[in-house]
Amino acid sequence: MNKGIRAKSWIGISFAALILVLIAGVAHGQDGGGTLRNPLNYTGADPWLTYYDGNYYLAATTWSSEWTMRRSPTLAGLKEAEPVRIYFETDPSRCCNMWAPEFYLLDGPNGPRWYFYYTAGTPFGNYDRQRSYVLESAGTDPMGPYTFKGQLAPPGQEGTWSIDGSVLQLNGRLYFLYSAFSPMQSVFIAPMSNPWTVSGPGVLITEPEYPWEMSGGTVNEGPVALQHDGQTFLIYSASACITGDYKLGMLTYNGGNPLSRASWIKSPEPVFQRSDENGVYGPGHNGFFRSPDGTEDWIVYHAVDFPEGACDGRRTTRVQRINWNEDGTPDFGVPVSTSEAIPAPSGDTGVDPLPELPERVISRFRAYPSNTAYLRHAAFMARLDSNPVPRADSEFVIRPGLADPEAVSIESLNFPGFFLRQQNNAIYVLPDDGSADYAADATWWIRPGIVDETGISLESYSRPGTFIGRAMGIVALTPVTGSSPVRAQEDATFFLEEAVR
Ligand code: AHR
Repeated sequence: MNKGIRAKSWIGISFAALILVLIAGVAHGQDGGGTLRNPLNYTGADPWLTYYDGNYYLAATTWSSEWTMRRSPTLAGLKEAEPVRIYFETDPSRCCNMWAPEFYLLDGPNGPRWYFYYTAGTPFGNYDRQRSYVLESAGTDPMGPYTFKGQLAPPGQEGTWSIDGSVLQLNGRLYFLYSAFSPMQSVFIAPMSNPWTVSGPGVLITEPEYPWEMSGGTVNEGPVALQHDGQTFLIYSASACITGDYKLGMLTYNGGNPLSRASWIKSPEPVFQRSDENGVYGPGHNGFFRSPDGTEDWIVYHAVDFPEGACDGRRTTRVQRINWNEDGTPDFGVPVSTSEAIPAPSGDTGVDPLPELPERVISRFRAYPSNTAYLRHAAFMARLDSNPVPRADSEFVIRPGLADPEAVSIESLNFPGFFLRQQNNAIYVLPDDGSADYAADATWWIRPGIVDETGISLESYSRPGTFIGRAMGIVALTPVTGSSPVRAQEDATFFLEEAVR
């Protein structure tokens, strides 16, 4: 090869290498770190995220009887991290509606342990019995295993509604933060004698008083501490979680007795709220974490991308860096758009595995021959309603059958992990408890519509020959054949409507 060609070859190789470096640079942040786009998941309300010993850990509301944890060495990698079950509750007094996880490494009787705080109550659809509880890890691995440690309530208040438990470490003492009614849903602080015991009465430190705390309902909840340069702030969620106006407010600790309302100065304006420009609505119920090298403060929160808002499984987990003002107060900025690639935390060089979350086929089952009545859940029972509100109650994702992948299971869109299941012939939308019975009852064969083959009928896997239909005025399993009364055939025939979203 002569020198001329050789020189050209080297130029060509160098140019190609330059292009490759530039492409790699785009995938990574400008400073050589990674970049990522929100959200981190399809469902992830009330998220809690922390970085510990080389990994990020993420848990979020499951609304069921189990807690799961995701682990990844990179923040963006949480998108693909498998949720690992770390706890499952069978006690009916606290079995269900698990909300708002928070986990802290605190000193236990046998050394440092993870204390996993959460809200739970009695079976589905009734939230009157929601209370605050805590689990304790066996060692220092956030993945567990965990055992039940106890209920968190001021002495004598064990029977009182309480949610969104959180821990404040201040002046060498532990305090329990939580939300309860007084009479509006407000935020309280109480002393703790150890990570699993509230040792004194709760004191109200913020209640809804500004209009921005009253959109859709008078609510202060989801309290969480933020400490920086010797200052302590308490960030809380305000307004009803079902609206796009759910947002964050802030109290600043003034150095007095933390158990006195006078020691917490409320900011008259919200500190983080919806951005119509960025298509982010209802940002709230947050947590905080640090970058792997400890130099940056980040916020993890949930939000939706539709203005009417939602307080269900359509809320997704988002993260972004927070900055600090000259006066030492936090600057949360504006919730970033899901189309914006943001630099990953300092010290995190992960490449975003899912810049776009995978598309989903959303299915609806329209009753025959109606043009408006759809199969939906309400208080977790299946029903037929015309123009159901929220529409998401009538939206499902068809998955391979839990009992037989050749069949199907039908997962709720707004309560992921909850499937259409028969129980004593009635039809519900309830969480997968991992049992074989549940799998069988939540598996269906899609057959040609009994009264109209352009439609479909859903035959029970666990009760062959019976189909989702109507009996005694409710949606139930009914034995139907082509020679059954026409009305029974019609009640067991649906039109499947599908859309990609
Ligand atoms: O998301 C479930 C519950 O709804 C959360 O614990 C609470 O903050 C909100 O009201």
